Amino acid sequence: MTAEELKRQAAARALEYVSDGMRLGLGTGSTAKHFVELLGARIKTGLRVIGVPTSEATRCEAERCGVPLTTLDEIDRLDLTVDGADEIDPALNVIKGGGGALLWEKIVAAASDRMIVIADESKWVPVLGGFPLPIEVIPFGLPATRRAIAQAFAECGVAGPMQTRAAGNGHVFVTDGGHWIVDAKLGQIADAPRLAARLSAIPGVVEHGLFIGLVSATVLAGANGIRVVERP
Ligand code: 5RP
Repeated sequence: MTAEELKRQAAARALEYVSDGMRLGLGTGSTAKHFVELLGARIKTGLRVIGVPTSEATRCEAERCGVPLTTLDEIDRLDLTVDGADEIDPALNVIKGGGGALLWEKIVAAASDRMIVIADESKWVPVLGGFPLPIEVIPFGLPATRRAIAQAFAECGVAGPMQTRAAGNGHVFVTDGGHWIVDAKLGQIADAPRLAARLSAIPGVVEHGLFIGLVSATVLAGANGIRVVERP
């Protein structure tokens, strides 16, 4: 089975958590795209839901698939967000932001009663950090911010090279919120909650890709079938 087929299976299973009338957060990335497509198909056969997209890419995709949209200006809470992830650990802490949408993704997740992460099994890891940690930053004063980030890493016992993310055209990647992203290759993050809190305290850091305590359950699709892990 291909990775795309596994992602679609995870997305299809997550659809079972959706019921009529729900207000949904719609994640970003290739796995979340499967979910939006499948959701659109269910809407065509009568399901009534409304969604808040976590990126401009997802907004376009949802419009294409016929998913009615709203914003967090119009509603204050969401029932459920379904999103992908770059890494998931056994405590259901995750790294997100590989697609550059981590800020909007975290705002939407935090406004949701539940967040379900959908992924293929390759995203399940014993310890976070193999995937470079995306950190969304303000361009102003970036060298100072990078020094503060390096200091936070040192205090949390991690280290590794940092790189400002480039777009496909070679220019700096700019997020939907107008910020830049620094990716940090840390290898293993022994204490992700501590690092998350430390990074959040840096003025030039808008947000980071560590989602701590936000995920309610994960649906993982692998060669041996689907595995659902609920937060205890
Ligand atoms: C985007 C994300 C994505 O959810 C994450 O990168 C996983 O993407 P994919 O489903 O394509 O592997 O956090 O910012």
